[in-house]
Amino acid sequence: MATRPARRPEGPVQRLKGALVEASRSIFPSMGAAEWRSVIRGEAAPRPNPRMRVHTNSFWYHIRPRALPLEATAWYYTFGLGWMSFFFFVLEAITGAILMVYYTPSPLVAYADMQKIISDVPLGRLLRNMHRLGAHVMVAVVILHMLRTYFTASYKAPRQFIWVTGVILLILTLVLSFSGYLLPWDQLAYWAVTIGSSMAEAAPLFGSATNLLLRGGVDIGAGTLLRFYLLHIFALPMLTLLLISIHYYAVRKQEISPIHELFAPDNPRGWGKPTRRKVPFLPDQVFFEIALIVLLTFAFVAINYFFWDAHLESHANPGVTPQHTKAPWYFLWLQGMLKFGDKILFGLILGPLVLLVPMFLPYLDRNPSRRFADRKVALASGVLSLIFLGYVSYAGWPTYGIQQTGSQEILTDFVPIEGEGIVDHVTWSELPSTPVVYQVKATIGGDPTTTITDSNGNPVPEESLSAETHHLFDEFREHVQHWVEIDNRFRNPTATLAIEPWTYLQREEGGETQVVLGPNGQPELAIKKATVTLVFEATEVNEETGEVVTRTTATGEPEYSRSQQADFLHRDSHLGNNLEENASAPRDAQD
Ligand code: HEM
Repeated sequence: MATRPARRPEGPVQRLKGALVEASRSIFPSMGAAEWRSVIRGEAAPRPNPRMRVHTNSFWYHIRPRALPLEATAWYYTFGLGWMSFFFFVLEAITGAILMVYYTPSPLVAYADMQKIISDVPLGRLLRNMHRLGAHVMVAVVILHMLRTYFTASYKAPRQFIWVTGVILLILTLVLSFSGYLLPWDQLAYWAVTIGSSMAEAAPLFGSATNLLLRGGVDIGAGTLLRFYLLHIFALPMLTLLLISIHYYAVRKQEISPIHELFAPDNPRGWGKPTRRKVPFLPDQVFFEIALIVLLTFAFVAINYFFWDAHLESHANPGVTPQHTKAPWYFLWLQGMLKFGDKILFGLILGPLVLLVPMFLPYLDRNPSRRFADRKVALASGVLSLIFLGYVSYAGWPTYGIQQTGSQEILTDFVPIEGEGIVDHVTWSELPSTPVVYQVKATIGGDPTTTITDSNGNPVPEESLSAETHHLFDEFREHVQHWVEIDNRFRNPTATLAIEPWTYLQREEGGETQVVLGPNGQPELAIKKATVTLVFEATEVNEETGEVVTRTTATGEPEYSRSQQADFLHRDSHLGNNLEENASAPRDAQD
């Protein structure tokens, strides 16, 4: 219910008084300064008692009204996005509370706990998927809700306060989602948080103190994990809940902005005409919302059970920086802005401004009209801001603006030091069990030439290799050719991908170690080794022309660079999806 407007104040002091009365009334419904004064003075309340209005007009009374204006329930206006933001907040709270039962915030066990949740805990994988995807969807829905309220000018008087609490909610939602990032204690978690907290460190004056406060020590460790955990499960959700309550209370007080204000009253379709029609809360609205909750929950469970899996990377390793460390999608714009220049200017001054300027929007935009036709500048600025954010987010992508070296990319794509490469995607048993070397010689514009040999250089018949291995070799050839075409420092390479047996499968029996034999009487392999070797012309930049040229020896011969990386493919890691198995049970060598 809208508050009674205060009397128009004349002088600056009276204006200030008027503002204070208004502020007091918006926090304590209908209790103006006069009522507060009489409470403090212990005076008897007049009749009808204005203090009772606090109860009748208060938050709880207003949580849901007896009837909603028809204009507010139109799905094509709000798209139910505010409602859905709350739905996902509750979903996160429920799934998070259950996950907490199985999770310990310590670097020693956090990762193992995550594996246990995924593999051992009944429906644990589903819960984790729902919690993870739910966090992303919540951020997306909150952003869409913000866009809706921006484009329909719902931030304008008298709804400025709703908007300001909304922007704080957006920041809280982003931080809440990011604070959960570290908890799995995998490589993604560790490095995303390393980047995040070292950005804080770049801030002048309080930078290193903030970083220390966040990390709880010089390095990311047990203290950091505990801090992020407590922020994630307690401080931030409580703050968010408080802000949602205030936000929604303000929405209820001011009511949702009417649709008809967006159009001129003489709109030929009649959209500019106000309607006083209402929808009864019970049964219409309640039934609709219950149906929506059931539908959304079922759809979300199905998506997370059948179609989507949250990734768990390898255990956090401070010694190995992953090739492409990437911020979560909703912070890519910040990562992108950092690529344009100074860390302090772009990251710490302009970055926060992107979030803080919108907070003052209702006070910056002095145009009182909500009509689309009167807001051409605001609508165009909204679209331009979106294009700008889209572009800087694109720039935040790891491949943008960073000079890639073809040789490094091929090594990490096929046999990365950390995590899974393309070779790991081939079923283990489909990879050759005898040494096979696939060699590609590539040049710009030409067709690459290839050979398949054993380790002594003797040809290996193509039909002896599985279709999956052929597919792997084809992909290798395409990657090499691709990088030859786009990286002029990767010249005339000879690239080899070698697969060779490494160790045999062994079993303890009667105190003795025995090699396990396969059905054909041959020893079974436990580990295969995949090695990528790249030999290409070494280059340097000509100082005068700036051209990249091949380095040559005194006799005019090209000099060569060589890069090599190997990966050990364990039989266990290729038994289908090993996380499906009982992770805590000891594995039988004969699996
Ligand atoms: C956790 C986050 C949020 C929740 C749960 C939430 C919830 C809601 C709900 C339930 C409504 C009622 C109408 C509707 O569904 O549109 C609403 C309205 C509104 N919200 Fe939010 N909101 C959130 C974040 C935000 C953000 C980030 C902004 C903008 C910066 C914002 C600005 C507004 C405004 C201006 C209205 C009034 C709309 C109107 O009168 O047409 N909210 N919010």
